[in-house]
Amino acid sequence: MEIRKIMVVGAGLMGSGITQVAVQAGYDVILNDTTEALAKKGAATLAENLDRQVKKGKMTEDEKAALTARVTLSTSIEDAAGADFVIEAAFENFEVKRAIFQKLDGVCGPATIFATNTSSLPITKLAASVNRPDRFIGMHFFSPVQVMTLVEIIRGLKTSAETIAETEAVVKRMGKESVRVKDVPGFLVNRINAALRLEAYNCLAEGVATIEDIDKALKLALRHPMGPFEVADFVGLDVGLAVARSLFEGYKDIKWRPSMLLENLVESGDLGRKTGKGWYDYTSGEKKPRNDVEF
Ligand SMILES: NC(=O)c1ccc[n+]([C@@H]2O[C@H](COP(=O)([O-])OP(=O)(O)OC[C@H]3O[C@@H](n4cnc5c(N)ncnc54)[C@H](O)[C@@H]3O)[C@@H](O)[C@H]2O)c1
Repeated sequence: MEIRKIMVVGAGLMGSGITQVAVQAGYDVILNDTTEALAKKGAATLAENLDRQVKKGKMTEDEKAALTARVTLSTSIEDAAGADFVIEAAFENFEVKRAIFQKLDGVCGPATIFATNTSSLPITKLAASVNRPDRFIGMHFFSPVQVMTLVEIIRGLKTSAETIAETEAVVKRMGKESVRVKDVPGFLVNRINAALRLEAYNCLAEGVATIEDIDKALKLALRHPMGPFEVADFVGLDVGLAVARSLFEGYKDIKWRPSMLLENLVESGDLGRKTGKGWYDYTSGEKKPRNDVEF
């Protein structure tokens, strides 16, 4: 089936980025959110990102106008009737996503593929909400979507080979690379990343090295652009703890037990850059080692 029109459900950080790469790939896009204000906010984020490209000389004003003209805003799931492919990027909540897919199932033709950008919910369980589990797939983008070239393609138990191939073709047309991944907690990238971060916390707890030296070592030896503690503070320690907990619940294996140091820090209210303190202290406007607590 030729895919021409894509509906993106959820016009937040990821949805606006996905809309941009889809429209730049030549697809028409319906950008859906729950209110007109939220849909417009997503469109404004898209316009800002395109403006940046115009300023850099990578795109003309006319090209920008032609791209934005192919994005239709929507506040009704019924608008998905004309879509060949749906990418859901709404809140990371099973019930929210299930309700969206059940509505979509009643609206879309049987060939329409349903893709979810979930970071942590099981694809097979979400696919069980619809009458087309063979046309249901995980399509995990990374932030910022316009910049990061990888998309994980996650097959649910009943996802068909055609659905995988058609989704891979969409990813390719978006100028991105894909990897095939089984439906396991954390999928591939978040699982490996969480293991690395957990081991960094274990090393800190055992006194193997300081926070600064662990970050320095991984940046210099493994060429990571940021160390695990720097990344954790950037993402937010509450978000990191939620990921750690979902892996622990998913695998039910002690090796995934979240770091107690991390649990403590979150309980103290220090959540990283957004609160001024996390593994580091940012209250002076610069990243500094903390001297008010002992880890
Ligand atoms: N932020 C990331 O780095 C990242 C990376 C990969 C995957 N994800 C996943 O992408 C999804 C979206 O994340 P985000 O960071 O863009 O969140 P966000 O909060 O920025 O955006 C979510 C949007 O979905 C909308 N929404 C909620 N319920 C809706 C509904 N019923 N119908 C239509 N729209 C609805 C919200 O109004 C909001 O605009 C989540 O599942 C998240 O786990 C996020």
